[in-house]
Amino acid sequence: MASSDPHKPFDAIGMQPSGQDSAVHLQDAAESSQPWQPAPISHQQTAQDPEYTTLDEDDDEDAAQDLVSDSGFDSGSLLGDETDTLASSILNHRMENGRQYHAYRDGAYWGPNDELAKEILDFAHHMYLLTLDQKLFLAPIQDPQTILDCGTGTGIWAIDMADQYPSATVIGTDLSPIQPEWVPPNCLFEIDDVSLDWTFPPNHFDFIHIRELFGCIPDWDFFFQQAFEHTKPGGYIEIVEHSVQPVSDDDSMGPDHFYHTWGKVVIEMGKKFGKSFTIWEESAERIRRAGFVDVVVVDYKWPMNGWPTESKQKNIGRWNQLRLMDGVEGFMLRLLTQVGGWSIARAQLHLAQMRKELKSYRTHAYLPGTVVYARKPLSA
Ligand SMILES: C[S@@+](CC[C@H](N)C(=O)[O-])C[C@H]1O[C@@H](n2cnc3c(N)ncnc32)[C@H](O)[C@@H]1O
Repeated sequence: MASSDPHKPFDAIGMQPSGQDSAVHLQDAAESSQPWQPAPISHQQTAQDPEYTTLDEDDDEDAAQDLVSDSGFDSGSLLGDETDTLASSILNHRMENGRQYHAYRDGAYWGPNDELAKEILDFAHHMYLLTLDQKLFLAPIQDPQTILDCGTGTGIWAIDMADQYPSATVIGTDLSPIQPEWVPPNCLFEIDDVSLDWTFPPNHFDFIHIRELFGCIPDWDFFFQQAFEHTKPGGYIEIVEHSVQPVSDDDSMGPDHFYHTWGKVVIEMGKKFGKSFTIWEESAERIRRAGFVDVVVVDYKWPMNGWPTESKQKNIGRWNQLRLMDGVEGFMLRLLTQVGGWSIARAQLHLAQMRKELKSYRTHAYLPGTVVYARKPLSA
């Protein structure tokens, strides 16, 4: 992760002068031992391979120009002659089975980054606000000045936090440049890989926030060690994750129910991918192991549709049904076809079966989740 002067302003995509070189990242990706890594992208491939396109075609040409002429890119900073390649690499994307995926650290993440995928992330943000009674977090932080959102997605949480704490600097990092350009001046975005070494200053952040990085991190203990090192003594970490395996508290989901198959398949794909989907039930222990104290776990439930009678859960369930109906393709298509080796036809059949089950109100199933927060000791 790029080292950072939190008081220096950036535009929507910020690369720090002292940050890691993107070309190095792409090289790293090529050499990684991940079970599945498509070939790294080069400029030449971009020009020749129809699978690779850049966001700056047609409508986006102006936007891309803006980014290339951004002072961070053409300042002749430490990125030197490679700045042009860097900007283009970040803006590239890969088309796969009709969906658009990130190209920076190509293959590292299972989800698309197209308009539909962004909408699904924003649905989830709405669901988290419903779940947490309109709070953006639960940790008892006081007047935070330095905030990090790891894997920020559309940046919607970071933007809301920047609005809520105008004197704070909120940094959101992600592999995909899908954050809006016009954001509060105290909200900054960086395109970076949070699973690598962080080069932020040690003891720096008052608050580190992680949400839905399931299936994204190959080594969670290393990740939490990094988070610990870069949290200020007395500062907080919070991680919000949910299970991918629907469960039920009554007998409405028998042993042969498709939801069991669904859950097993996601877990299996995560294992094959080398990035597990079970962090929601492991985070408390792993955070403690990293050195954080006063660990608090708050459980929540996301019903699969509006089956509950209680109004808050019913409302969350209705949103979850919508999110899953429109979202399951993005969640699973790459994992099933590229990681699992399934044919498109088989994958689409699996997704169709899931959509069918999501319409059944007889099954009282939900996804369990946890909000876990903890403090770095003052003495650390
Ligand atoms: C399921 S989304 C969650 C987004 C956001 N945290 C939220 O709750 O709205 C996961 C995000 O993590 C990003 N991501 C995945 N692996 C990453 C990595 N190694 N470094 C940085 N971002 C990553 C993806 O690009 C995606 O935007």
